Amino acid sequence: MRTHYCGELNESFIGKTVAVCGWVHYRRDLGGLIFLEIRDRSGLIQAVFSPQEQSKTLFTLAEQIRKEYVVQIQGEVRSRPEGTENKRLPAGLIELSVSAVDILSKAEALPFYPDEHQTISEEIRLKYRYLDLRRPEMFNKFKFRHDAIRLMRNYLDAKDFLDIETPILTKATPEGARDYLVPSRTHPGTFFALPQSPQLFKQLLMMSGMDRYYQVARCFRDEDLRADRQPEFTQLDIETSFMDEEGIMLLIEQMIEKLFLELLNVQLPSPFPRMSYADAIREFGIDRPDLRNPLRLVEIADLVRDVEFKVFSGPAKDPEGRVAALRIPGGGERLTRKEIDDCTNFVGLYGAKGLAYIKVNQKEIGTEGLQSPILKFLPEKVISGILERTQANNGDIIFFGADKAKIVNDALAALRNKLGQDLDLLQSEWQPLWVVDFPMFERDQQNTRWQAVHHPFTAPKENNVAALEASPGHCTAKAYDIVMNGIELGGGSIRIHSPEMQQAVFGLLGITPIEAEEKFGFLLDALKFGCPPHGGLAIGIDRLLMLMTGSSSIRDVIAFPKTQTASCPLTSAPSEVSPAQLQELGIRLRAEVPKAMS
Ligand code: AMO
Ligand code: AMP
Repeated sequence: MRTHYCGELNESFIGKTVAVCGWVHYRRDLGGLIFLEIRDRSGLIQAVFSPQEQSKTLFTLAEQIRKEYVVQIQGEVRSRPEGTENKRLPAGLIELSVSAVDILSKAEALPFYPDEHQTISEEIRLKYRYLDLRRPEMFNKFKFRHDAIRLMRNYLDAKDFLDIETPILTKATPEGARDYLVPSRTHPGTFFALPQSPQLFKQLLMMSGMDRYYQVARCFRDEDLRADRQPEFTQLDIETSFMDEEGIMLLIEQMIEKLFLELLNVQLPSPFPRMSYADAIREFGIDRPDLRNPLRLVEIADLVRDVEFKVFSGPAKDPEGRVAALRIPGGGERLTRKEIDDCTNFVGLYGAKGLAYIKVNQKEIGTEGLQSPILKFLPEKVISGILERTQANNGDIIFFGADKAKIVNDALAALRNKLGQDLDLLQSEWQPLWVVDFPMFERDQQNTRWQAVHHPFTAPKENNVAALEASPGHCTAKAYDIVMNGIELGGGSIRIHSPEMQQAVFGLLGITPIEAEEKFGFLLDALKFGCPPHGGLAIGIDRLLMLMTGSSSIRDVIAFPKTQTASCPLTSAPSEVSPAQLQELGIRLRAEVPKAMS
C-alpha cells in the first residue's frame, strides 16, 4: 500500500511518484485548492489537490476528506511554490501533487485532536489514549523506549546473561508495598499475589545454577502514586552468582554509561561518584540527593545547644532531633518577602513548624548588617559561628530547620530541591550517584519494631549472627542504590545465602519461625541445599526513560498507564464482576464495600 513513510520524503524525491498512508492531520480548503497534511509515525507530508491538475472525481473525493480520516495517497513529489515553504517541517520544501486517493477509514469528530493535547485533561487523554499516542512525539518516546530496552538486552546478552521469565501469579514478595491479590477458583478461599518484584525467583534461579539472569519484568505494587510511581511498572531485573558488590555496580554503571552515550550522546561522569547513606542524609537530608544542585545542609546543633531559643535548643539536645542550616547563595537578594513566606508554607507540608532565616546584608558591620526574626534570641557568638560554619556571604539567606531529624531532613531536602529549580541553581545536566552503606534496619513509623531498609533478603556487612542480633541498628547492608538527578533509578544488594542468617534477619524483623516457614519456607529450604553467594539489582525502566526523554511523569513513557488513583479510564478497570464469577470464586462482597478513592 505504501512506498514510503511521510517523514522519509525530502527534496531528493522530487519528480518521483510515491504512495503514503496515514491520518489527515490538517485540512485546509481554499475553495480552489485543497491541502491535506498526512501524518504517519514518522512525520508529516503535505498533499495538494487542485481542480486544474486533478480529475473532477478526485477533487470531489478530496472535498469529502476530514481530519483524522485514514487515507492512502499516491502522488508526485514536487517543490512547493515559492513563498509557500514551511521551514518548521522537515518536508516543508516539498509536497505531493496527488494522482490517486483512497479513503481507508472515516473518522467522526474526535474528543480531541492530537495537537490539542496540552489543553486536554489527563483523564480524557488517558480515556482516549490511542488518540493521544497518535502524536509523533509519543511515537518517538516509545521508539526510544524500544531502543533503550534493546540496548540493555544486547549488553546483558553479550555478557552471557539469560532472559528467564518468572511467574506473575505467585506468592507475596515483600518490597514494602501492599500486594495486588488474585483469588483462586480451584482453591477457594486462597489468593495469589502479583509479584512486587521477581526477587525470590531470581534468587532461586541462582540456586538452580543459572549463574546470570535478567528479565524485563513487570512488577505490581499497591502504593500511593506519584509522578514517578505506577501500580504496575517495569524493571530491568538482574541477578548474578559469584560476583561481589563492586562487580555488580561496575556492570550496571557501564550499561547506564552506554545507554546515555549511544542514545543521547551524553558522556556521564565516570566513575559514578559514591556516597554513604549517612553522608547523604547529613548533607542533603535524603538518600537520593540531586547532585546537580550545589546547596548543602550544614549541622549547627552543637552551636545552638545552650541558647535560650527553645525552638533550636530543644531539638539540639534531643538525640532524635536535628538543627540544620541551608545557605542559599544570593538568596537574600533574590527572594522577596512573599517568596520567603511561600518557603515557610512549603516546608509546612513536610511537618516543619516554621522556617527561621537570616538574611545576610552586610556581615562586616555585625548583627546590624543582618535581617532575621530570630536574631534577638541568639547570642552574637552563636550568630557569628553560624555565619562562619555556613560560609555565608553578603546577599545570601540562611534557612534553618529544627525538629525531629526526620522532619528537618524531609523539609530541608524538599526546600533544597525547590530552590534549586526556582532559582535556576542546577549546575549540570546529568548527575549519577551510587548511594552505599545503607543501614540494614530502620525503626517503623510507630517506632515499635525494626523493618528492612532494602528488603529482608539483603546481606548484612556483619556476617556474624550474634553480632547482628546484638546491635541491629548499627549494622550496614551490602546494598547500593543508583540515583540520577535526584531520582532513585534502581537498587540492589548482595543477598543472604545462609539459612541461619536468613532466619536471624527474619527474627529481627519480627517474623516468627512459623510465619517464616509459611511465607518463605521454600526459600529457607532452597538455602539449605547448596546456595552460591549471589546478588543483583533492579533498574526502574520507566523512571530511567522518563529522565532520558525529558518527560515530567512516568505515565508519558508507559503506553497505557493508570491514573493517580490506580485506575484505567480507557478500559474502566478495575470494574465490578458478575455475581456468577464471585460465586465461582467463593467470594461474597460485604454490604459496606469501601468507597473508591477519587
Ligand atoms: P526496589 O524496590 O528498589 O528494588 O525497586 C527497584 C526500582 O524499581 C523502580 N520502582 C518503581 N517504578 C515505578 N513505579 C513504582 N511503583 C516503583 N517502585 C519501584 C525504582 C526502583 O529503584 N527486588 C529489588 C531489587 C533487587 O534487590 O535486586 C527491588 O525491587 O526505580
Ligand atoms: P516563633 O518563636 O515561633 O515565632 O518563631 C520564630 C522564628 O522561628 C520564625 O521565623 C519561625 O518561622 C521559626 N521557627 C519556628 N519553629 C521552627 C522550627 N521548628 N524550625 C525552624 N524554624 C522555626
